[in-house]
Amino acid sequence: MPGMEWGMNAFTYKEHALHCDNVALAEIAARAGTPCYVYSAGTILENYHAYDEAFGESPHLVCYAMKANGNLAILSLLAGAGAGFDIVSGGELFRVLKAGGDPAKIVFSGVGKTAQEIDEALAAGIFSFHCESEPELALIDALAHRRRMKARVALRVNPDVEADTHHYISTGRLAHKFGIDLTDAEGVYERARQHPNLLLEGVSCHIGSKLMDPAPLLEAADRVLAFIDRLRAKGFDIQYADFGGGLGVAYEPEEVTPAIREYVHQLKARVQGRNLRVTLEPGRSIVAAAGVLLTKTLYRKKTGGKEFVIVDAAMNDLIRPALYSAYHGILPVRDRGAPTLLADVVGPVCETGDFIARDRSLPEVLPGDLLAVCTTGAYGFVQSSTYNARRRPAEVLVEGASWRVVRERETYADLIRGEVPLP
Ligand code: LLP
Repeated sequence: MPGMEWGMNAFTYKEHALHCDNVALAEIAARAGTPCYVYSAGTILENYHAYDEAFGESPHLVCYAMKANGNLAILSLLAGAGAGFDIVSGGELFRVLKAGGDPAKIVFSGVGKTAQEIDEALAAGIFSFHCESEPELALIDALAHRRRMKARVALRVNPDVEADTHHYISTGRLAHKFGIDLTDAEGVYERARQHPNLLLEGVSCHIGSKLMDPAPLLEAADRVLAFIDRLRAKGFDIQYADFGGGLGVAYEPEEVTPAIREYVHQLKARVQGRNLRVTLEPGRSIVAAAGVLLTKTLYRKKTGGKEFVIVDAAMNDLIRPALYSAYHGILPVRDRGAPTLLADVVGPVCETGDFIARDRSLPEVLPGDLLAVCTTGAYGFVQSSTYNARRRPAEVLVEGASWRVVRERETYADLIRGEVPLP
């Protein structure tokens, strides 16, 4: 079954028409227009439950890394299922509270939190701050003091593990800006004891994203656990370990999505008997395969001996191909059989870097034909822009046989909101 090859179980052909769960994508395109992101609520919940259920009775908190997809409908879906959230800005805190997320299940990551953002998070009563430097610890302590409260913190340590991924999204080596070198971290915890308003109860790490092999994640977990043993021996009351996000999904046909449950079982085996709660921050593995970007073919063109399929989605809607040379599968919404065409699929934006796929073999594609750009539920819409004064696309959530627009396509008025022309 096409679609299955990218682990996208929600997207299947029924009578030659590509569906998201029980809704025909052609119907969504006809009513919501294109380009348009379409997400399967069922798949999102299934992936979240895979994490949650695999932990079972073992103390845990799955904090969805909402940077992957911060649509309010998706946040409220996950909040309703009991998820926590990993945030990285005041804006993400605002969103997650709007969506009904439980502040007591929020962890706040990021290397550059501002005083205002920290204060907003204290006011909301979040679970914990994942701190990346000593000045940040001092600032949180001072702001907590002003509010007469104690702030729970975990230092994000850098376990110096090589994560095999794109160099822009690998974060766990010493040369990266993230975390505190594991060899210095003990001293940082010691000095942090002087801050009376901090509860030094956690240790966190995150080594990178889109990891197709969990081995480096488990290696990092081992190093963090050994570090926690050392801290506890020195009298620190460490209660939780956060192993970050990072588990990948299959984007290319030959790739295999690592099993969430298997990864969690491996983590569970490592913390067994340690009286330690585990928190995770998965983003991509929850939403990537739940989404497609629906786009319509505008033109076909042949130039310089090359075939081009020009579609109405562009790099402003989905920047991953341009930014990371990322591969996204492309499925015709109406099944047209075997590939007969080798083409670049490109958008209307005025630069050569504006492509969705290069040298891709596709079945015949004619103007008007709809295409689904696969595995775009994570880091798709959230990285969109209005470059070329293009309105950001609509977003649709499918729940079984029903669907709704969960973000309207932007209007021209949205494009200039807040701008002030000269008199
Ligand atoms: N926790 C922290 C501290 C992170 O920095 C990230 C992602 C996550 C969790 C979630 O990681 P995930 O489970 O999604 O791999 N825009 C890029 C990905 C950037 C990831 C940044 N940090 C892309 O489109 O591939």
